[in-house]
Amino acid sequence: MGHAYAPYSDYSVGVAGLTDDGRVVVGCNVENASYGLTLCAECAMVSNLHLGGGGKLTHVYCVNASGEPIMPCGRCRQLLWEHGSPATELMTDEGVLTMAQVLPKSWGFE
Ligand code: THU
Repeated sequence: MGHAYAPYSDYSVGVAGLTDDGRVVVGCNVENASYGLTLCAECAMVSNLHLGGGGKLTHVYCVNASGEPIMPCGRCRQLLWEHGSPATELMTDEGVLTMAQVLPKSWGFE
């Protein structure tokens, strides 16, 4: 979160994920002047997941500048779904929820 580039929204986001082989991958949001093409923190984290050797996310914790857990947006829930599993655990302001709980009836080819 401390590395976020968010001059347009002034809303910094950081995310950390644990992989199924024990690595920690992180990401921060990076905005640009087009606003709508902002890169969410989860996008960077998933890119780092692949750069670091791939695998699946088992746990994800996404925070704002106050360190409070925030819910991933819809696009990022799809990303986490595809690079995690239905059982992947996500910290929320209601405690730990699984991806199956936060993205029910998800889209996918499998
Ligand atoms: N943001 C994320 O990084 N992840 C999310 O899941 C929700 C939103 C960022 C995008 C934008 O830079 C800022 O938060 C405000 O929407």
